[in-house]
Amino acid sequence: MTSQRTIATEEDRQYYDTTERVRLKPGWMQGEGQPMPTIEPFLWRWQEVEPLVLKSGELVTPDRDVERRTLRLATPGLDRGTTHTITAALQLLLPGECAPAHRHTPTAIRWVLKGEGAYTTVEGDKCWMEPGDLILTPSWTWHDHNNEGSEPMIWLDGLDVPLVRYLRANFYEPYPEDQQPIVGVAESEKRFASGALRPAWEDHEAPYSPLWHYKWAKTEEALHSLAEIDASPFDDVAMEFSDPATGGPVLRTMTCWAQLIRPGVATRAHRQTSCAVYHVYRGQGYSVIDGQKFEWNEGDFFVVPPWVWHEHANPTGQESILFSIQDIPVLKDMALYREEPYVENAGHQPVTGLFRG
Ligand SMILES: [Fe+2]
Ligand SMILES: [Fe+2]
Repeated sequence: MTSQRTIATEEDRQYYDTTERVRLKPGWMQGEGQPMPTIEPFLWRWQEVEPLVLKSGELVTPDRDVERRTLRLATPGLDRGTTHTITAALQLLLPGECAPAHRHTPTAIRWVLKGEGAYTTVEGDKCWMEPGDLILTPSWTWHDHNNEGSEPMIWLDGLDVPLVRYLRANFYEPYPEDQQPIVGVAESEKRFASGALRPAWEDHEAPYSPLWHYKWAKTEEALHSLAEIDASPFDDVAMEFSDPATGGPVLRTMTCWAQLIRPGVATRAHRQTSCAVYHVYRGQGYSVIDGQKFEWNEGDFFVVPPWVWHEHANPTGQESILFSIQDIPVLKDMALYREEPYVENAGHQPVTGLFRG
């Protein structure tokens, strides 16, 4: 049924001229709902990204020219963000550099890609960064990054900026000094990283995980332990980083996953109202997104937009590990989360094209 009307008479024309003048919009003139801006699935190749990230070190310097030296994964069809809710960007910090302390209402995660000898301070807690580590800087927490090592440090930043901007709730404050005072080293880890045990006397009230730092060694061990006994038909050995105080996602607006796709596994397709930004931490394989085959290699990034069929496969003999940032918590909190399995063709989409970028 279409509710759209046309302007047929002089009386109609006068009516619609008047509604426009007094800023009223007849709902029946807008057709069947508004088309949403489309987000295309997309893939960035590390082989193309890495040289540009390293080159950015010659162009701008944090603290002197810019606040942060970042390159955003700019998905076609979007002016901002990497999806409509998540911004993902590569950040480079060279030896001796400091990305000065500040805080903002958007929440951020750091997923460490390369380098050693750098740390992020979150609310006075010094967190040494190593590849595969996940570091949280939740909404309104002070954070600065410092590289005291001898090699370039590269990590993936994931922020809920598009969502926070949409809600007109974006606030920002610089710290008076470049670096905030360090109160302790790995304190959140010492208190909460054991996962199953936490300080008995502490009530944690904050709306995010009290653990800032998830070390790669623990993540890898957890993936291998789960792989011995169970896996999801849609995501294979997928683990969600969890808030040790609640068991829920680490943040209110974003969740992070580490996913082991075992050799020879091809998952079944499904679609969700949530979206995801993926990083290929280890290995090779492919994902079929909306019928298109995206072949990925170690270091690549790709986007799964909301409500498109997607499935992942690892046809190699080595394990593949994917890291992802997803907006599932927002959809679930608003009772808008939906998930649907692809039932035809034993759960696999017909491949209609190959992504070439
Ligand atoms: Fe920041
Ligand atoms: Fe999925």
